[in-house]
Amino acid sequence: MKNSEIRPGSYRKTQHPIETLILERWSPRAMSGEAVETGQLMRLFQAARWAPSPANGQPWFYLFTTRDRADWPLFYGLLDAGNQEWCHKAWALVLVLAEAVRPNGRPNRLAGFSSGLSVQNLLLQGHALGLVTHPMAGFYPEKVAETLGTPPEYDPQIMIAIGQPGKIPELSARNQAREYPSQRKALSEIVRKGGF
Ligand SMILES: Cc1cc2nc3c(=O)[nH]c(=O)nc-3n(C[C@H](O)[C@H](O)[C@H](O)COP(=O)(O)O)c2cc1C
Repeated sequence: MKNSEIRPGSYRKTQHPIETLILERWSPRAMSGEAVETGQLMRLFQAARWAPSPANGQPWFYLFTTRDRADWPLFYGLLDAGNQEWCHKAWALVLVLAEAVRPNGRPNRLAGFSSGLSVQNLLLQGHALGLVTHPMAGFYPEKVAETLGTPPEYDPQIMIAIGQPGKIPELSARNQAREYPSQRKALSEIVRKGGF
């Protein structure tokens, strides 16, 4: 069975109606290794581009590669072993950077927060196009500058795997067992009217 056959709506229920795209986006791991057209990848980055940020500063920056390029091993080599295990079938690997020091030398406390908003746009657009888009904290940020030549004011945030949906039985047993849309805390656990 391919993960694209999974219907997230049959796993996830919500007490108050929300947009289907938000409810149904999830982070699969099985990918086929097939190519994603450059035009489709650019649609994901276009979505990321339109995120809001303080004073419209847009402190996010995206580096990416695709598996047909010579620099693929550089990006893949940044991932930890747990993520490498399933990311070898991704078509694109993305590194998200946040410009944590403004051009005027002052720190941008919300650079990471803003980059997160931008990433969610990318993930939603990827899901809407039927792609696997999976964010990952499991990589070695301390190796990024040396490997990809990033300047010190750009903080590595996360990496993202992008690919065509794949067959679940091709994952390891551990990853097969968690290849389904997850649940969330109840609204009552995360929202309160008034003070804490
Ligand atoms: C910032 C961030 C870091 C994550 N890091 C990893 C990771 O290193 N490896 C992984 O397999 N999934 C990772 N995930 C995916 C989460 O486990 C997943 O988003 C969460 O369990 C909710 O499931 P869903 O995205 O399918 O709704 C990460 C997600 C986020 C937002």
